[in-house]
Amino acid sequence: MPDKLPVLLDCDTGIDDALAILYLVNSGLCDLVAVGSVHGNVTALTGARNTIRVLDVAGLSGIPVVVGADRPLAQPVDISAHIHGADGLGNTNQPAPSADPAQGEAAQQIIRLARERPGELTLLAIGPLTNLGLALLLDPDLAKLIPHVVVMGGAAIAPGNVTTHAEANIWHDPEAANLVFTAGWPVTMVGLDVTMKTLLSEADQKRIEDSQRDTARFSWDILQFYLDRYQEFMGFRTCALHDPLAAGIALERSFATYRKAELRVELRGEHTRGMTVADLRPGRQAESPVELALQVDAEAFREKFLDTIC
Ligand code: BDR
Ligand code: CA
Repeated sequence: MPDKLPVLLDCDTGIDDALAILYLVNSGLCDLVAVGSVHGNVTALTGARNTIRVLDVAGLSGIPVVVGADRPLAQPVDISAHIHGADGLGNTNQPAPSADPAQGEAAQQIIRLARERPGELTLLAIGPLTNLGLALLLDPDLAKLIPHVVVMGGAAIAPGNVTTHAEANIWHDPEAANLVFTAGWPVTMVGLDVTMKTLLSEADQKRIEDSQRDTARFSWDILQFYLDRYQEFMGFRTCALHDPLAAGIALERSFATYRKAELRVELRGEHTRGMTVADLRPGRQAESPVELALQVDAEAFREKFLDTIC
């Protein structure tokens, strides 16, 4: 049995973040070292409190969860309550978390842990990238200390989900995202190119509904709001496993196939601010390439996800 992967998680715990956390901690493959929260689906404080709620469901205590940035670097904050509910967990009226967030701040926590464990930690970011951007600005050596960053966000070829070209996590802080994609550390982008292919089918939903495990009961409860929202724009009852897929790929890269390319975030476009612009022209030499997940074995991932949750 290989050692568990030490993961430092950055998230804006709404519905699919919650599913990703349950997946990580039940996978048997992950050592969840610490968590930082960020604005996005909810405020950073609510995100931290929701993370502790989710860890409570998994029966885990003692994993440090700190609050991070409550606003983007260069634009007003914009919370996605319409997708995740005012509480971020589908308005399900969950019990209070068992503990308060830990002392400290998310960007500082990234720097501290990266310095304590140089070359060891996988940084998994499933919310807007403000904390990572701040950490890079505060510590110019950070990029050398983290061997792998996995980002749920962006779209290399697929359309956006907030605007025609922008995906939500990038849209919420394009400047921070651009810092992360150009920092020179190894980044894998798990964008809408692959996450919109991992849609929960009716049979998948039935499996969650029928399972008696606490993780599945909680997941089914919070999923209702998310499924309703997806029904409005997809025309059928489903949802994408955005954050769980990024978690899955961080632990087992064989779920996807990849292509390396130079990637920039559009910061000024009249219609395209927040777009991830990948240079996919043949024969281009990328200076500091980002690894783009472009194809996914959706069947294999959904099966693994359901086995883990149910
Ligand atoms: C991303 O945006 C958020 O709403 C989800 O939690 C996910 O991280 C998908 O675009
Ligand atoms: Ca998220």
